[in-house]
Amino acid sequence: MNQTDQKIITIDGPAGAGKTTLARALARRLGWRYLDTGAMYRTVALAADEANIQVSDIPGVETLLASLKMDVQLASEETRLFLGGREVTALIREPRVSALASAISALPQVRAKMVELQKRLGQQGRIVTEGRDQGTVVFPRAGLKFFLDAGPEERARRRYEEIKSRGNDADLDQVGRDMAQRDQADSTRDASPLRPAQDAVPIDSTRLSIEEVLKVMLDRVRQKGW
Ligand code: DC
Repeated sequence: MNQTDQKIITIDGPAGAGKTTLARALARRLGWRYLDTGAMYRTVALAADEANIQVSDIPGVETLLASLKMDVQLASEETRLFLGGREVTALIREPRVSALASAISALPQVRAKMVELQKRLGQQGRIVTEGRDQGTVVFPRAGLKFFLDAGPEERARRRYEEIKSRGNDADLDQVGRDMAQRDQADSTRDASPLRPAQDAVPIDSTRLSIEEVLKVMLDRVRQKGW
């Protein structure tokens, strides 16, 4: 098999671009598994927070990583995360964890461990994976890669709606500012900054509905003969 024909679909892009919604929809349509790699960084952030370890405390983070009991369960609808057997899938969505995840995901030690885990999870193929570095670093030979983006205002609005739909309070301007800060950090860090893979299909979802983006993606999947 040609290595770029690996049955792996990567969706990278900034927060609020629609990665999660599309990755799930695509996985469901194909009957493949869905991997949310942001959830893994969020879980490390939560573990550090609960252990009172600062992101600047590198030896502390290294010790944490060495003993991290993180389990990842994949299905087509959801990536469920467990810390020491306790499910944290909902807890890691809190805005406080978002900020911590962005900071901790910049550490090369954290990335090395997550990348290794993600490669293992994708080994059997038939997986749709979303994140920031899936097409560039983790699965450079994935058969199909997308880079999903949208204008900053639209992305902030989507994230705001998402937070509200979970019953949490939010301020649109604040959500936009937090997001801009995270985007800046995620795109300018030294370790695996957010950028499109050279062979990724770029999609701007600012003015497209979920169904329209899904159609573009499914057309590409069909072209692959999958
Ligand atoms: O997609 P998300 O918002 O759940 O991601 C949480 C943080 O993790 C985000 O700030 C970027 C980081 N991340 C990363 O660095 N690499 C990935 N593959 C996925 C997420």
